[in-house]
Amino acid sequence: MRNVRRACLYNTDSASSKALREQISAGSALDVVHEVATLEKLAEVLRLRDAKIVIFHLDPEPEPVLEVLEQVSVRYPDLPLLATSHQSGPELILSAMRAGCDQFVRKPIEPEDLGAALARMASKYRLTRKAGKCICVTGASGGCGTTSIACGLALEIARLSTTRCVLADLDLQFGTVAVTFDCEPTFSIYDLAQEHADGELDSAVLEAALTPLPCNVSILPRPATIRQQRAVTPEVIRRIMDLLTGGYEYVVVDLPRQTDACTMAVLDQADLVLIVCQLSVLSIGNAKRYMDVLSDLGVPPERTEVVVNRHDGSRGLITVEDAQETIEKPVFAWVPNDYAFVSELLDLGRPADAFSADNPVREAIGQIARKIVLCSPAHAAVPAEP
Ligand SMILES: Nc1ncnc2c1ncn2[C@@H]1O[C@H](COP(=O)(O)OP(=O)(O)OP(=O)(O)O)[C@@H](O)[C@H]1O
Ligand SMILES: [Mg+2]
Repeated sequence: MRNVRRACLYNTDSASSKALREQISAGSALDVVHEVATLEKLAEVLRLRDAKIVIFHLDPEPEPVLEVLEQVSVRYPDLPLLATSHQSGPELILSAMRAGCDQFVRKPIEPEDLGAALARMASKYRLTRKAGKCICVTGASGGCGTTSIACGLALEIARLSTTRCVLADLDLQFGTVAVTFDCEPTFSIYDLAQEHADGELDSAVLEAALTPLPCNVSILPRPATIRQQRAVTPEVIRRIMDLLTGGYEYVVVDLPRQTDACTMAVLDQADLVLIVCQLSVLSIGNAKRYMDVLSDLGVPPERTEVVVNRHDGSRGLITVEDAQETIEKPVFAWVPNDYAFVSELLDLGRPADAFSADNPVREAIGQIARKIVLCSPAHAAVPAEP
């Protein structure tokens, strides 16, 4: 279930804490990252948007916990709420539902029961949530074309979807998105971090901080200096991603090859993670390593895809079949090698000029965008090798 990995447990019975945490974590997609016993503490966690689901332990005294549950459900109508108790009489379940709880599971919590409850909540929140698609573009190794593809993809998505596409540069230290578009932004993600610290970060502030370009792409640039990166915490990133996916249909993120708390804050929200690599033993090997760690960290494998960049069609040491065997799935897209074309667009700072060119690189990136926007059997498709 998307965004429901970080859970907050509301529990007033400390003696049950260990068993509850173990039961919740066993076999489910949930991590209990917070445990609180008062409404004040819970409000703090929710204000930081650091939990995607709240589990209320109704024992030993259900009434006061249900009062808290009701307040949370009124204040956060989009937050999935689950309740658990050793009692499973209809009266208690009805009271919990009336208070705004989405699902009830009986204690001791069985992994199957919890999994089924999460699945039911997933369909409800997917149906009701006004969420944009978040596409993360990251590289299996440095310099393999991640930024070029992220920029091209944002342009193509904006053109195809006819809505403004946001391109966020989360390569906080050395990101090159703004330079690629030859623009000098007034604001960066650092300014948003400051607004967040002042409790002022909302969608209007976020929108004002984006740099809109005539090509229908709005850029959220990396901090101006490396020192400013420190202010950009995982909480800031989570908040920004929530606002972006809440307000824009498509958000493309240029993401560095790391698995720290900041990148995980983005990956938690990703609908699709494109790992860019090249057709070499080392690069494909790294792509597989990266896929595995993302899966271990809870990014569903079906959301991770591999894009082979700079493919020149020649048969090197590693074949297409070898590559697909290594990554254990079909390559999502192949982008041809054309250094003169790509480097000219980058050097001139005018990636949008690609539109006037009848070029295979542009065509390949356009195809990726079509898979995303038109959902033409996107993730299940087996693309033809060029
Ligand atoms: N399809 C392509 N054909 C030829 N050259 C390409 C292609 N894609 C990218 N390049 C070239 O590869 C170089 C690196 O590109 P880019 O900056 O996009 O990579 P990156 O993975 O973002 O790098 P970094 O790890 O530094 O962030 C650039 O010189 C670019 O022109
Ligand atoms: Mg880059």
